[in-house]
Amino acid sequence: MTQRVLTGITTTGTPHLGNYVGAIRPAIAASREAGVDSFFFLADYHALIKCDEPARIERSRMALAATWLAAGLDTERVTFYRQSDVPEITELNWLLTCVTAKGLMNRAHAYKASTDINVAAGEDPDHGVTMGLFCYPVLMAADILMFNAHRVPVGRDQVQHIEMARDVAQRFNHLFGREFFTLPDAQIDAEMALLPGLDGRKMSKSYDNVVPLFEGGSKGLKDAIARIVTDSRLPGEPKDPDSTALTTLFEAFATPEQTAAFRAELVAGLGWGEAKQRLYQQIEAEIGPMRARYEALMAAPEQLEALMQQGAQRARAIAAPFLAELRAAVGLRPFQPLAAASSAATQKAALPVFKQYREADGRFYFKLTAADGRLLLQSAGFEQGREAGQWVGRLKAEGAAALAQAPVSLADGVAAEEVGAALAALAEA
Ligand code: TRP
Repeated sequence: MTQRVLTGITTTGTPHLGNYVGAIRPAIAASREAGVDSFFFLADYHALIKCDEPARIERSRMALAATWLAAGLDTERVTFYRQSDVPEITELNWLLTCVTAKGLMNRAHAYKASTDINVAAGEDPDHGVTMGLFCYPVLMAADILMFNAHRVPVGRDQVQHIEMARDVAQRFNHLFGREFFTLPDAQIDAEMALLPGLDGRKMSKSYDNVVPLFEGGSKGLKDAIARIVTDSRLPGEPKDPDSTALTTLFEAFATPEQTAAFRAELVAGLGWGEAKQRLYQQIEAEIGPMRARYEALMAAPEQLEALMQQGAQRARAIAAPFLAELRAAVGLRPFQPLAAASSAATQKAALPVFKQYREADGRFYFKLTAADGRLLLQSAGFEQGREAGQWVGRLKAEGAAALAQAPVSLADGVAAEEVGAALAALAEA
């Protein structure tokens, strides 16, 4: 079966070598595998959560589009689009918002980190927190569920968001009675390993230690490499290959044999200046040929725009019919004679129903509702979903006899006899 792989890139920065090695290169390689249907998109709505500078957003989304294409993304194979070009995603975002427990969002790491900082600083916990930040995981769930992705390659910091997308999908499926959504799995790539920056810490804009990928041209690359921190050993003195980020950077662009030879030369006394020159050549051999394409695309925005429009069209061809199904499922349907609609509804509801679900407190519950939708029975919360399932099984099989032992309470104004009759009706069906 085809595996749908989907990932988004927030458009707030311009890519550096760490992004290339950690995300762009492995994602493009994966998109070339047989049996994989890839969806890569620019998460420009997510960018608005972190950034209110229009010029920066504009520049970043264009640079990112050009970077992915220059790095070899094949728009014939991959559905490549801007999130904001697919209005179905924001519409789904709302359908999902309406079934997402606020308590689930309260537990999101990114939100909690903000409130922790505020509390530590003696501020109101929600100081500076927008609804965008608070609801960030719901929009991300909409991104993923819109295309029913099986696998979502992400960094470790995003794993909780994928779990939340699963929770939200399950809740929707349960409420509306069908497996509308595939439950996605996070894929944490071994290749997503973090590349060190100039000073040996993780390469990140916030540490100001990045090597730009295309920006600044080959000179920019060379200048950044010249700033890699090394010790002061002179040419001819033996070097420790692991004393600097140079070796790891080299390794990311070399075969194991080339890396072994490079290490041996350092031990044998290769000068740092010469070593940096080798590193430059090694990286340039891979990305130099891509740079020309990057620059050509940046100089031809109308061409980039046309490619993104095509991508959006392809994405919408999938999203629009699916969204129509989802709208109908929640009751947003074209008007039709209600008699027809409601008789279909009553046929389906002719029997009492057990529903199992999980609450924001993490516990599992079940309830029994009458054919007309009134609540009859409400269970206590269980640690394990299995326990709830077992009680439902017993109540169905043993009827009123199991009622006295089950950890349940009758709804207000409901007599035990009515519940017994409902269970009997279920058992008969
Ligand atoms: N939040 C992700 C990040 O910052 C970007 C993103 C948005 C994403 N929507 C997504 C990633 C959907 C995977 C799937 O890295």
